[in-house]
Formats: sequence, C-alpha cells, structure tokens
Amino acid sequence: MEKNFKRTTVTSALPYANGPVHIGHLAGVYVPADIYVRYLRLKGRDVIFIGGSDEHGVPVTIRARKEGITVQEVVDRYHYLIKDSFEKFGISFDIYSRTTSKTHHKLASDFFRKLYDEGKFVEQVTEQFYDEETNHFLTDRNIRGECPRCHNHEAYGDQCEKCGATLSPEELINPFNAETGHPLVKRATKHWYLPLDQYQPWLEKWILEEHREWRPNVYGQCKSWLDGGLRPRAVTRDLDWGIPVPIEGVEGKVLYVWFDAPIGYISNTKELCDGNPEKYGSWETWWKDPETRLVHFIGKDNIVFHCIVFPSMLKAHGDYILPDNVPSNEFLNLEGNKISTSKNYAVWLNEYLEELPNRQDELRYVLTANAPETKDNDFTWADYQARCNNELVAVYGNFVNRALQLTQKYYEGVVPACGELNDYDRETLSEFKNVKENLESLLENFKFREAQKEAMNLARIGNKYIADSEPWKVIKTDPERVKTIIYISLQLTANLAIAFEPFLPFSSERLRKMIDMESFSWEQLGSTDLLPAGKQLPKPELLFTKIEDDVIAFQMKKLEDTIKANEAAEYKAAPVKDIIPFEDFEKLDIRVGLVKDCEKVKKSKKLLKFTLDDGSGEDRTILSGIAQWYEPEQLIGKRVLFIANLAPRKMMGEESCGMILSAVNYNGDLSVTTTLDDVKGGSQVG
Ligand code: 2FM
Ligand code: ZN
Repeated sequence: MEKNFKRTTVTSALPYANGPVHIGHLAGVYVPADIYVRYLRLKGRDVIFIGGSDEHGVPVTIRARKEGITVQEVVDRYHYLIKDSFEKFGISFDIYSRTTSKTHHKLASDFFRKLYDEGKFVEQVTEQFYDEETNHFLTDRNIRGECPRCHNHEAYGDQCEKCGATLSPEELINPFNAETGHPLVKRATKHWYLPLDQYQPWLEKWILEEHREWRPNVYGQCKSWLDGGLRPRAVTRDLDWGIPVPIEGVEGKVLYVWFDAPIGYISNTKELCDGNPEKYGSWETWWKDPETRLVHFIGKDNIVFHCIVFPSMLKAHGDYILPDNVPSNEFLNLEGNKISTSKNYAVWLNEYLEELPNRQDELRYVLTANAPETKDNDFTWADYQARCNNELVAVYGNFVNRALQLTQKYYEGVVPACGELNDYDRETLSEFKNVKENLESLLENFKFREAQKEAMNLARIGNKYIADSEPWKVIKTDPERVKTIIYISLQLTANLAIAFEPFLPFSSERLRKMIDMESFSWEQLGSTDLLPAGKQLPKPELLFTKIEDDVIAFQMKKLEDTIKANEAAEYKAAPVKDIIPFEDFEKLDIRVGLVKDCEKVKKSKKLLKFTLDDGSGEDRTILSGIAQWYEPEQLIGKRVLFIANLAPRKMMGEESCGMILSAVNYNGDLSVTTTLDDVKGGSQVG
C-alpha cells in the first residue's frame, strides 16, 4: 500500500448462477478474497467486501431450456444455493446480491446510456448466425458444426473440444443450432461496440508502466492482449434474457453479460450503502473517491475483462476509480483432471458441507496451502487427508491441546504466573514476534499461500517448544519452571487464534472460546501477555480431529463414478461393419460350451485356458485373452459362446481350438457372453 489509501473496496468475481459453486471457485477467488478482507478488518482498516451472483448471459438460459424450467427459476435456485454455501464457508461478504436486482438493472442501464449519449460506442451492422425455426440469433456457444481442422462434427462456435482449436462460428462447416440441430443462416444485425482500440495507448501506459507490481500471470496476460492489438468489442447481444438495451426502438437486444456483470460490483455496493448509510456511508465514496483502493479478486479466465474491458468502461464513463490491483489466480484441477460444471466433475461446496460437516476450515486450509497463485495446481483427497492429519491435527491442534490440557491438569485451568525466562524461552518468543511483520508483508502482497505457511510455522514453533521443554517430566523435579513453560505456551496459543483468524475463522473462534478471549485485534499479534496470570480458562475441546480413510475412499469413489458415468454418456457404439451375404454368416459355427475347467496360462498376464464340454464327448481347449477381467474360478460352470470352426492357433506353447466370444465395453473392458442354463454343451447358435 504505497499510496496512502483511506479505504478499500474488495470485489470478488460474481459466479454464474447456472450451477452450484465448487472448490475451484473457493480456491481461486473467494478464500483469498476473504483472507484479505478479514485481515484488513482485523487491522481496523475501512473495507467493504462485495459479492453477488451473475444471473445473465447464455449459460443460465441453456440450463433452463435443458431442465424445462424458466430462467428465473434457474437463477433463483442457484443464487440461494451459492449464497448459502459461501455463508457456511465463512466468506464474509458485506453484501451478496444479484444482477437481476432492480438497483442493478437501473445502474447498468444508466451506465450504458451515458456512454451511448456521449458517443462512446461505435455502431456496427454485422452478419450473425440465425435460426429461422426459432427466430433467434445464436451466441457462439450455442452454435455447433464441423471443425475445420479435425472434422469433429460437434465442435462449438468458440472451440473444438476434440482438437482444442479456438474457433469463431464463421469457421465451422455446416453450422447448426446446438440445442435443436437445426441448420443456421446468416442475417444482418446491429450492435454497439466499445472501441477498445482507442483505449489501447492509455491501457499500455496504465498497466504496463504504472502497474508493474501486478502478479506476473496477470501482467503477462494483459501484455499479450495489448501486444496483439485490441479491437472493438460488442457490448450488446441478440437475446431475450438480460438488461434490455436502453435505446428507443431497440427490441430483442440486451447488454452483453460481461458489460453488466462488473457494473454489478457497483450496484451491489449501492444496495449495501443505501440499506445502511450509517455504517457504510455513501456508495459513491467506495467507487469515486481517489483515496479508495479498488481490488478485484478473480480467476484467470476473467483477467481480460477486469484489466482491459471494465477499466476501459470506467475510463469512458469518467466518474469512477480504477482497480489498483487484480490478484488473479490460475486454475485448480481435481485429481489431475479439469474441474467441469457441465460434466459434474467437481467437489461441490453444498455436498462437501453435508458429507464433511463442520470441516470448513479443513478445506479452506488445504485450498490455501495449494492455492494456484502462480500456476495451475491440483487438489487431491490424499493431500487433503495428509494436510489435515499431519498439519492441522498433529501440529496446530496438538500444540493447543497440550497447552490447554496441561493447564487443566496442573492448575485446574488457571493461567499460571510466569517465572524467570531462560534463553530458550526468549528465543522462542522472539521468533514469535517476527511473525507479525512477515505475515503482514505477505498478506498485503496477496501471497496467501506463504502467509498461511507462516501462521502454521508459528504453531510448529509452539509444538517444538512444548515438546522440547517436556513439562510432563519437569513437573516432578521443578514445578516452578513448569509454570513458565505453560504460561508461554498459553500466550503462543492466544497468538495462534489471532494469526489464523483470516485463514481459519471457525477454528479460531473455537479456540478463542477455549481461552475466553473475546476481543482481539491484529496489533496484539506477537504480545506475550494476552492471557493474564490468574485467568480461569474453560474446559478445552479438541481443535481438530483426524480425517479417517473411509471418508477419503468415499470421496474418491464419487469422483471415479462420475468419470465412469461421463465415459458411458459419451460412448457411442461402433459403426456396423459392411453387410455380408447370409452364406458368409452360415460359414461360422457358433456353439455353446460348458466350462469344465479354467486356469491361468503360466507366464501370461492376458490368457486364460478354458477346458470346454463342447458336446463332442472330448474336451476342447480354447485360450482367451481375458485374464485381466476374471478370476478363473468365476467362470467354471458357466455356459459360454464359442466359434467352433476357427482354424487352431498356437499361443504360449498351447493350442487353442476356437474362440470364446466376449463383448468389448466402451472403455475396453471385456465381458464373456454367456447363455442361460437350459442349453447343452455343443448346442449351435444361429
Ligand atoms: O466467469 C464467471 O463466472 C463470471 N460470471 C464472472 C463475472 S465477474 C464480474 F464481472 F461480475
Ligand atoms: Zn477440432
């Protein structure tokens, strides 16, 4: 905070209300924003934290059509679900509103209208894809067609998911309506464009010269957009869901979702302040006073909109301050795969809250420990379990528990008086004192991952202190010394409750209750007299408990099941082979064989050796490459189908006379085809 700002407006990306929120949202945007805001509040700084749902755009309309409900029903459902999840995870918004609010519709309309009246837009008529059946223009995502590169017939108007090519709808061969399959035609339509090219020189100076301190990933993305040269961007769309374009005579057009959504930050601030002016003052102070610092927390797919498009809109408008920083994270993957709302591949916050009740801090901790601050990162359940058990339970929880339990055991819960300090005590306390400054510098520079490590380091120091000091042994020889050890341990415990508050608010609160510390502030961090001698402490409870293996196994299975279900949904049966004459079919002699014996073939991982009763009175041997999918015993007694007149073949030194029929599953798994029990070995199939 080089410039002396008086207050901070913190915004966090408004999530689309087209599905629940997941760990990727939490890790990328909301936990870091919440840590930052909690820290500023603890420091006594003036700050507001703005959130809300993004309820316009195409995704919500697609969801509504898929489910056969109205768009309003979709956004209502997810707005409240998302709001509830955030609340339960302790994301401490001052307001969480929505872009369908009246305040927002008015403010966004007025914003557009001012720019329109002042001639800040460029009008342009272009040819867009139109569906004559539904009488709609289509957005890029709603258009499908053949990919010009890999000829996948189901590429989207913005991307081919098969070969990864970035596309524009014009490039698609035979474009059609993604939802109905109906072919599309081109039709002329008028839209309003923000001429970003005109803002390019200003943006270059403002970002590339004046904001070199932005995170390298953010700065780098901006630079590459600017190096590529900016072009005018349409800020209106042919859609019937959204904020109607406020120009007389214009119908069936709305503001582009990326035009109205960031204005939502301003509208939500207005709603907040107008509802409680005594507490928050005028909304304009938070958006127009140059002494206000504006910080946007977002994910990396939002960088261009928050660093280039929205600032250009604000600049064009003229009344508003610009973001001072845009700490954007990269993406979080899940068990090595991309998190996907449409594929249901995620850890959904509402489900986590049900399946792992009262473990919000555990997730917050792991997500911050693995925050994708500088590169994409991976969430795994194994890492979640390890971090909870080896760090939260074994270090932080263990230390606190020891300090509090020993206070109960030796002093009936009363804080003992501190005696004379030895060198080790002094060393420990001075290590503690440095933490405040380190934490502050990390937090102010948005390095939350390292900051949390620093807080955990504090717990490590405490854990080591108590383990090295061995009060449980010393009590027998020098009870006076133990008073000092416990006194110091208790001060360290109180410090931990403050240091962890921005990161782990729930456990910090539990801990504060255990040490009866009602009021606290950031400035007290590093103090050695937070709990005065003689203070009676309540009975302690465990701060954290272990995550058992079955909990992890359950979560892993859920993800595996989702992957399987997605593979099955994507599975398409192989095309039917060329037609053959009946005589060709007659050449095949398919029969039923009774499996008398089945065993593994030595030295082969693939082959099973079958001994079949084929009705001939003599045993028939067939080798089949299905050892990976069956234990031999499972097949004994089964009636299988086999081809009886296939030329014998030698495999691994054994002769195989025929072929056992199996079905190949979509993922390559084999399943032996069997018949009912009422047919005899040797029966012909046909
Ligand atoms: O990417 C998204 O989920 C968008 N709904 C974010 C909007 S951020 C802001 F502009 F509102
Ligand atoms: Zn392709």
